[in-house]
Amino acid sequence: MTDQARRPSPLRDLNEYDQYVIDTFAREDEALQWIQAEADRNDMPKISLRPDEARTLQILIKAIGARKVLEIGTLAGYSGTWIARALPADGKLITLEKSSKHAAVARASFEKAGVSSKITLIEGAALDSLKKVESEAPFDLIFIDADRATYPTYLRWINEDNHLRLNGVLVVHNAFAGGRIATPESADDHGMSALQQELAKGHHFEASIIGVGDGTLFAVRVR
Ligand SMILES: C[S@@+](CC[C@H](N)C(=O)[O-])C[C@H]1O[C@@H](n2cnc3c(N)ncnc32)[C@H](O)[C@@H]1O
Repeated sequence: MTDQARRPSPLRDLNEYDQYVIDTFAREDEALQWIQAEADRNDMPKISLRPDEARTLQILIKAIGARKVLEIGTLAGYSGTWIARALPADGKLITLEKSSKHAAVARASFEKAGVSSKITLIEGAALDSLKKVESEAPFDLIFIDADRATYPTYLRWINEDNHLRLNGVLVVHNAFAGGRIATPESADDHGMSALQQELAKGHHFEASIIGVGDGTLFAVRVR
């Protein structure tokens, strides 16, 4: 197997089936297109969820009747907008972002999409912000898409004090770590791998990965 075949760059490379799913189930409206354009205008990295991944997250949120969602890693508010739209009218998304520039763009995005009333954005390093959101726990769903080296620490927080409810779901983006999950190289890769190895022990979660794009990990809290 060539190195290129073993390490695809799946983040934005759509095959015809991905495109079919997007065209059929996950079309972006004007607000979502505006958010991506605004991210480009602000030179932000192209690392948000793909529409088909975001749509899968929406379906999951609705399937489990989630009302309270925590997101770590806001960027321009693209995934946050999809999440907020899947929540009921009295639902709430708390999203954590360390970059003040990203947070400012995300606030504008949430306004543009008309979802600001459902969203609390907390600026600062997530490890600090998590202390501030403990009173909101337990969450129904937690979505992590940020600094992968810290993922084992986030998982420890999730496991403490019922921060995620029983039968609640943990979702983690880029589960294949850009194709390096089986042979981790960087601290980020090792963080992602360590999170998955811990989940695979089955102490609190049952988990697997949907292999669309760079993979999305889904884990249901079973005990
Ligand atoms: C992959 S992007 C999030 C993409 C977003 N979920 C989406 O799909 O639209 C990761 C974001 O996490 C933020 N981030 C990285 N480390 C963080 C930390 N320790 N605390 C809070 N945010 C962090 C980055 O600044 C960046 O905006």
